[in-house]
Amino acid sequence: MMVKSIKPIKDETRPKVYIETYGCQMNVNDSEVILSILQDAGYVLTEKMDEASLILANTCSIRDNAEQRIWGRIEQFRLQKRRREGVIIGIVGCMAERLKEKLLDTHVVDLVAGPDSYRSLPGLISRIAPDSPQIDVLLSHEETYADISPVRMDRNGVSAFISIMRGCNNVCSYCVVPYTRGAERSRDPYTIVREAEELFANGYREVCLLGQNVDSYYWKDPATADRNVNFAGLLEMVAKVSPEMRVRFSTSHPKDISDEVIYTMAVYDNICKHIHLPVQSGSNAMLEKMRRKYTREWYLERVSKIRSVIPDCGITTDVIAGFCGETEQDHRDTLSLMEEVCFDGAFMFQYSERPGTLAARKYPDDVPDEVKTARLNEIIALQNRMSLKSNEKEIGKRLTVLIEGVSKRNSGELFGRAGNNKVCVFPACGHHVGEYVTVEVTSCTSATLISKTV
Ligand code: 5AD
Ligand code: SF4
Repeated sequence: MMVKSIKPIKDETRPKVYIETYGCQMNVNDSEVILSILQDAGYVLTEKMDEASLILANTCSIRDNAEQRIWGRIEQFRLQKRRREGVIIGIVGCMAERLKEKLLDTHVVDLVAGPDSYRSLPGLISRIAPDSPQIDVLLSHEETYADISPVRMDRNGVSAFISIMRGCNNVCSYCVVPYTRGAERSRDPYTIVREAEELFANGYREVCLLGQNVDSYYWKDPATADRNVNFAGLLEMVAKVSPEMRVRFSTSHPKDISDEVIYTMAVYDNICKHIHLPVQSGSNAMLEKMRRKYTREWYLERVSKIRSVIPDCGITTDVIAGFCGETEQDHRDTLSLMEEVCFDGAFMFQYSERPGTLAARKYPDDVPDEVKTARLNEIIALQNRMSLKSNEKEIGKRLTVLIEGVSKRNSGELFGRAGNNKVCVFPACGHHVGEYVTVEVTSCTSATLISKTV
């Protein structure tokens, strides 16, 4: 496996591909896998849609508004098709998997490929003809793209995603992911370590291990049961690549995060002290209906365990407002849990019914839109206060930051993240992207730690 670059190839004769990515980090990494496959088939990446002969949208289905955005883009692609004969439009990823032939009905889309079909992209593309669009949405029990070196599109050259597993077996009642990404499968840990080593050799200083539920990572060695690897074992293997290489991971599931993972995090300085632990709701009735398989009490116990072992651990979460049948009291329970934990950050959403999910089949989506929005706004306002409170606690502290780039607001300033995932901004003072620096936090907003190097 080799770290592939998008930079050196400048052959004007090669066909150009333009890729837009929507949705989660997993999709960002999938676009890098897609680019790797297409680069091997002769394509070069372009950032200009107007000059591409192949236009791909790697899509997300998690909420209705994500899909609506993509329908809007398909209309834009229609204009490209009118203007430039022969341009190929492809929809790949979760929405391709969910909507299949329906996308072809637009007469804009020539290619539909689900998340497990990326290896067949070159073959599919070669078979596209004016009246013969191509589709492959088969889901696999084995595909992990383990042998493919993603072509890094991140551009900072410092921090990269590594997919460690695909799919999800959890069937939370609101979630479409098990239907769009299929059953869970873990990737061979030795290919993961090799990818991390090569990234390190190429100047990367941080890897983020990605999976829908990393705590259920489990690789069975086909040869000997002694070498089976769970997530704690994998974390340790990747942490040992180099003490100069930081390791992050996402997403953890509250029902599965084990003491072993927490202790492994504590042992290795280069495992970042941050856990993204989606709670979704603070009400036991809602958690039960969501099929999350834990209670409020269980969640709070996991948070206390994390904080007892790693006192400064950053904890962030996801929250859904207005799930089916949510009462005012259920909503209050979410707010009180958020206050009790004082999350360092949160992604907050209003419930969006997804066709085919258990919730869509079983529970009416009965919280009125205006109530959902009002509850979400209350949740966001509370989190903003909590984020500020959490950041204020950092003032005066010294933190190790990996520099990721130049601040957008001020070219004389750099930014990077501390181990706990908080973003620090500080005067450049001769420092460079990819370096570790120690900073002292002098003030903050709810989103940023204003710092100086020491
Ligand atoms: N409606 C709203 N939010 C959702 N999420 C997943 N499915 C839905 C849905 N149907 C949120 C959850 C999850 C995050 C990735 O997206 O909070 O953790
Ligand atoms: Fe990622 Fe889920 Fe969206 Fe698919 S549906 S792109 S897995 S967030």
